Amino acid sequence: MSKPHLLQVGPYPEWDQIPLEEAFTVHRYFEAADKAAFLAKVGPQIRGIATRGELGANADMIAACPNLEVISVYGVGYDAVDLNAAKARGIRVTNTPDVLTNDVADLGVAMMLVQSRGMIGAETWVKDGSWAAKGLYPLKRRVWGRKAGVLGLGRIGYEVAKRLAGFDMEIAYSDVSAKDYASQWEFIQDPVALAARSDFLFVTLAASAATRHIVGPKVIEALGPEGMLINISRASNIDEEALLDALESGKLGSAALDVFEGEPKLNPRFLKLDNVLLQPHHASGTIETRKAMGQLLRDNLTAHFAGKPLPAPVL
Ligand code: 8YV
Repeated sequence: MSKPHLLQVGPYPEWDQIPLEEAFTVHRYFEAADKAAFLAKVGPQIRGIATRGELGANADMIAACPNLEVISVYGVGYDAVDLNAAKARGIRVTNTPDVLTNDVADLGVAMMLVQSRGMIGAETWVKDGSWAAKGLYPLKRRVWGRKAGVLGLGRIGYEVAKRLAGFDMEIAYSDVSAKDYASQWEFIQDPVALAARSDFLFVTLAASAATRHIVGPKVIEALGPEGMLINISRASNIDEEALLDALESGKLGSAALDVFEGEPKLNPRFLKLDNVLLQPHHASGTIETRKAMGQLLRDNLTAHFAGKPLPAPVL
């Protein structure tokens, strides 16, 4: 039996690439010099798309594949997939939830600690001889016992809050409604009110058109000159221009960010700031989690082509 043809939107580690190519005839979109010509050539054969959370599958890509049946996302976020285009054609969409939750939460909490305690600057202080030449490193802010807000108490937000409880922080969260599994934490629905009472605000919302710029000038100003914004979700949840303005003017104390508009290219204004911690969208980037994500990406595709129930369906 011939193998189903797959469009591969972005690269995977070798441990995923090899089994993927054993099971499917893979067409590497990301290596094509002329993307439109490549799509025009291979599109009609394609029955599945294997993509990455941040790359997704846009309307043009979906339209170029008239025999497309399934889009399998390597990531929990599927905001970069044109769901309307998929839905209109009855194309199934899958993702890789759960397997990455703990690592994403870990990185968010690590970013808070590193940034609040000034650890990057502290290391430079040691390495560049400042410790010996200038003496003590400037004092930074504590984390334990302070107020944390979690914007979006889904799987990742819940794990972030659980970890913060270990630092004896006062935890509150915002979501569309109070969660019955979170009665130990205060529910503050309005993101501005949540930010106003928080020292640290974690953005852990699944991104969609409805959440675009949910962290706008009001939330940012409410968090204030002593506050820290931590984003481990998607850049679109934050009004990046408003964030940059506030970081530059000091209206917001600091930020720790794993995701950016137009990544991997960043707005150059970020690079001039000394009150930001910048990470290369790697919250799920451990060997263990990426292996589990790759397995689930393939399990979703295999189940679809075997006519079995999808392990992690979105659509
Ligand atoms: C990955 C992600 O970095 O899960 C997501 O939505 O964005 C991340 O886990 C990405 O999808 C890997 O390409």
